[in-house]
Amino acid sequence: MTDATGIERFIKPKYAPTGKGAPFSIPPTPPGVINLALNENHYGASPKIGERLANYPDLNLYPNAKELQKLIAGYAGVAEEYVVPANGGSQILDLIANAFVGDGDEVIHCPPTFHVFAQRAQFHGGSIVSVPRDENFAVNVAAVKAAITDKTKIIVIVNPNNPTGTLTSKKDILEIVDTGVPVLLDEAYAEFAGETVIDLVAKYDNLMVMRTFSKWAALAGMRVGFAVVAPVIAQSIARITMPFFIDQISAVAVQESLKDIDYLMGNVKLIVEQRERLSAELGKFNFLKPYPSAGNFVCCAVTTGDAKQIQQAVAARNIRISAVDVGQGGPTAIRITIGKPEHSDALLKALQEVAVELNLS
Ligand SMILES: Cc1ncc(COP(=O)(O)O)c(C=O)c1O
Repeated sequence: MTDATGIERFIKPKYAPTGKGAPFSIPPTPPGVINLALNENHYGASPKIGERLANYPDLNLYPNAKELQKLIAGYAGVAEEYVVPANGGSQILDLIANAFVGDGDEVIHCPPTFHVFAQRAQFHGGSIVSVPRDENFAVNVAAVKAAITDKTKIIVIVNPNNPTGTLTSKKDILEIVDTGVPVLLDEAYAEFAGETVIDLVAKYDNLMVMRTFSKWAALAGMRVGFAVVAPVIAQSIARITMPFFIDQISAVAVQESLKDIDYLMGNVKLIVEQRERLSAELGKFNFLKPYPSAGNFVCCAVTTGDAKQIQQAVAARNIRISAVDVGQGGPTAIRITIGKPEHSDALLKALQEVAVELNLS
């Protein structure tokens, strides 16, 4: 920003405006459009939240983060001092990147994978060391270990992985944790996989887990996530956050979601069943090859045709899906969020039409 003449010359170079404000970059979903691109939960949040908030008397009072921490600790099955609540899992990713990564530090990640931690780590001054997953998208454990240097501050593993849906075994995770380097497990989709390593955090102080209420509890619009980390790490993160940084509405939403956990987990089960049905149906298209998924989405290799073109042709039929890059270069796959059965039906119909339109059969 050396040639800036306006007010922006006073802004720190690190925050120089780019014209691409991340918070405003995702287009809203117009009415009538089915959005299967953001891995949202189409069953919606617990109706108990709305009922409780309709008559909630205490909005004039500052929020009680301790109460939220306690509720989350109960859900996660850990002691309270291990829990860091935040405004969405994304904020946890940023807080951990901020606490651990500075100029000249290295972060190891395993693409194709969710990019937010790498982006935040870069923002805080780190450089990213990519250790690609193998041809089945399994983490290449030996290569991850070989990539560790004395500058490595964190190894991040998304499990189940987004966008591929791949699940990494506890054994592989522990082999990496055994190196002693801090390991961050992004478990945003753990409830759909039925697997977690939260129970191991008390044993390994270099193991950190990020979780969210966005997916299983359908609270993406509310922004509630948390970390399970060694108490000493929780105390460091507390030095970055401000008092009262989580609102009371989120605490109420978590409380009501946990009271309604059977309903919400019932919806998780329906999504998992739908994932298996939709994957089987997608496999019948000869231009798609679905990968096994443990998340609330399914990723398919596009074996004939172009992923971006398919995405656009599906979008013309009022359904949003994602074209994703899972190999070298441009989009080679599509990722589809699992919705309700009627969303799968609409998508399958759209894909049949697209197959004819783009001559893919
Ligand atoms: C792998 C992964 N991690 C973290 C997040 C962030 O979730 P949130 O900030 O909504 O809690 C997402 C959201 O899609 C995700 O896919």
